[in-house]
Amino acid sequence: MLSWDEFDKDEGEEAAKGATATQAAAAGIDKLDNAGGVAALEARAVTADDSDAVKRAKAALDQLDIAEGLAELEGSAARVAVDEKRMINCRADLNQLVPFKYDWAWQKYLDGCANHWMPQEVNMTADIALWKNPEGLTDDERRIVMRNLGFFSTADSLVANNLALAVYRLITNPECRQYILRQAFEEAIHTHAYQYCIESLGMDEGEIFNMYHEIPSVAKKAAWGLSYTRAISDPEFNTGTVETDKELLRNLIAYYCVLEGIFFYCGFTQILSMGRRNKMTGVAEQFQYILRDESMHLNFGIDVINQIKIENPHLWDAEMKEEASQMILQGTQLEIEYARDTMPRGVLGMNAAMMEDYLKFIANRRLSQIGLKEEYPGTTNPFPWMSEIMDLKKEKNFFETRVIEYQTGGALSWD
Ligand SMILES: [Fe+2]
Ligand SMILES: [Fe+2]
Repeated sequence: MLSWDEFDKDEGEEAAKGATATQAAAAGIDKLDNAGGVAALEARAVTADDSDAVKRAKAALDQLDIAEGLAELEGSAARVAVDEKRMINCRADLNQLVPFKYDWAWQKYLDGCANHWMPQEVNMTADIALWKNPEGLTDDERRIVMRNLGFFSTADSLVANNLALAVYRLITNPECRQYILRQAFEEAIHTHAYQYCIESLGMDEGEIFNMYHEIPSVAKKAAWGLSYTRAISDPEFNTGTVETDKELLRNLIAYYCVLEGIFFYCGFTQILSMGRRNKMTGVAEQFQYILRDESMHLNFGIDVINQIKIENPHLWDAEMKEEASQMILQGTQLEIEYARDTMPRGVLGMNAAMMEDYLKFIANRRLSQIGLKEEYPGTTNPFPWMSEIMDLKKEKNFFETRVIEYQTGGALSWD
């Protein structure tokens, strides 16, 4: 049985004999390589019991060229030093997770895992009764539930596709990739949550999932986001020039600052306001979990964008700043249109004009978070309770009941 204690003891004794640490390590590796190599050859020797299929498998391994196999890996073959790590266009080996350069990215990965949840954990019984009762909700309230499930069921899928098919390979940092993988899983959970709501409430699935083709205020937001995926999801696309690096930056601003940072906010506010009024409490609880995840996605994206700016200041020129600012303002305008479409009249103690103020307040935040000038001076937040919901520390009770099991699982001790 493998014993690390004995391995350490052998190596320690060798070092104590006066060899330098490097020589001792090299000698240890040679010893292991030789012993391992012989054992591996023995394992591959053809024996009388081997079937033809097993013989072919062993023979194929004789042809395996290790150098050729590893040559396709991204980055150089040397051990990675922290100074070599870069957010984009990094040449160091991307399979070496540590040493960390961006501790914040690893911390967000850990926080994301600690906040794990699943849609089936939320009780939907009261929602089903309310939704099926003809007197349960007004037409305006039903419109809000339908439109938001329609928009979000597609939007989270667009975000997931953008991450997995475009962004992941272009972000050349392993600790950030680790978070991106966690985020991609969370997006899958969000799409699952919408599907779970749609199924529980017995809605017409085709109508909801195809809404981004059928309802203009939903379609416009989806089309706007997709227009920023097109270039970088081309398998031939690569960063490395000013123009292509800027293209990636545009994508990150579109998805993190606008899609996840603005396009979700009207819907989140409407559904959470419904929950605060004791209506559709299961759907609202799902959205509350999702909002919590999304605020972490947003913060991660802002940190990535700002880090790219620090490492590549030439990209953040006057032209790029103007473009970034315009993107955020366009996104705000589209979300204001969505607010008017989903709230033609006052409902749930709010109306489209209040939502417009809120969205301008949010847009100011997004602009300043990436170092741009606020464009809606003097705007205040009409929904301060939204900030409280997003703040992890203030709502400790929220996760106390169900997530504790996941946290225990993640903190297993080997003692
Ligand atoms: Fe999401
Ligand atoms: Fe997200």
